[in-house]
Amino acid sequence: MDEYTTRLLTPETWDDFAALVEANNGVWGGCWCMGFHPEGFGDSPSVSGNRAAKQAHVRAGTVHQMLVYAGEQCVGWCQFGSPVELPNIKNKKVYEKDATDLPDWRIGCIFTGSKHRGHGVARAAVTAVLDEIRAGGGGVVEAYPEQVEERGPQRGAFFHTGPESLFEEFGFERDRKIAKWRWVMRLTLTP
Ligand SMILES: CC(C)(COP(=O)(O)OP(=O)(O)OC[C@H]1O[C@@H](n2cnc3c(N)ncnc32)[C@H](O)[C@@H]1OP(=O)(O)O)[C@@H](O)C(=O)NCCC(=O)NCCS
Repeated sequence: MDEYTTRLLTPETWDDFAALVEANNGVWGGCWCMGFHPEGFGDSPSVSGNRAAKQAHVRAGTVHQMLVYAGEQCVGWCQFGSPVELPNIKNKKVYEKDATDLPDWRIGCIFTGSKHRGHGVARAAVTAVLDEIRAGGGGVVEAYPEQVEERGPQRGAFFHTGPESLFEEFGFERDRKIAKWRWVMRLTLTP
């Protein structure tokens, strides 16, 4: 982990983020990490539209996203934000059915460039996100990861919201199940 540094996604780091997305075919063919934002993919989604929408969020300061760097190269990220900033979580209907209180922060999507997986990039990203939240006053943080245990080996490609084992490392605990393999996990951070 010492080999990585982290920076927030801002207009200054946009080009580094964009280079990573472009090197990975736009991520899932061009989502540009828009799925969790309020407008999602919009009414008529396109790769260029997603890119522009993401950049508009970055310019407006309505994005919280931690970028991980190996040297000067951006190799991964972890998105986070308030429920207002990231309303479109997966399995939202089931989530809302048993929701009693909303968290202060959500972890959205996690991504490591395909050539850099399995070397602690996601761990570095989540570490830096939690440090950032703690430094900002802490609060209740939710993640919505995929269960790993009791399943066969899974390709990381389908862990859009990260593997549960990663969040367990940081002390997240299961709150409730919202899909066959997806859990709401919670952690309370104090400054
Ligand atoms: C899931 C993903 C983020 C993991 O990133 P990574 O940098 O390879 O993860 P790390 O090396 O930091 O792994 C940390 C821990 O997570 C868990 N983990 C990571 N990948 C795993 C996998 N494929 N299966 C099971 N557990 C896994 C392990 O517990 C691992 O710890 P260990 O290596 O000590 O066992 C990565 O595979 C990825 O980006 N997948 C694509 C997700 C995507 O498309 N996101 C965008 C959606 S819009």
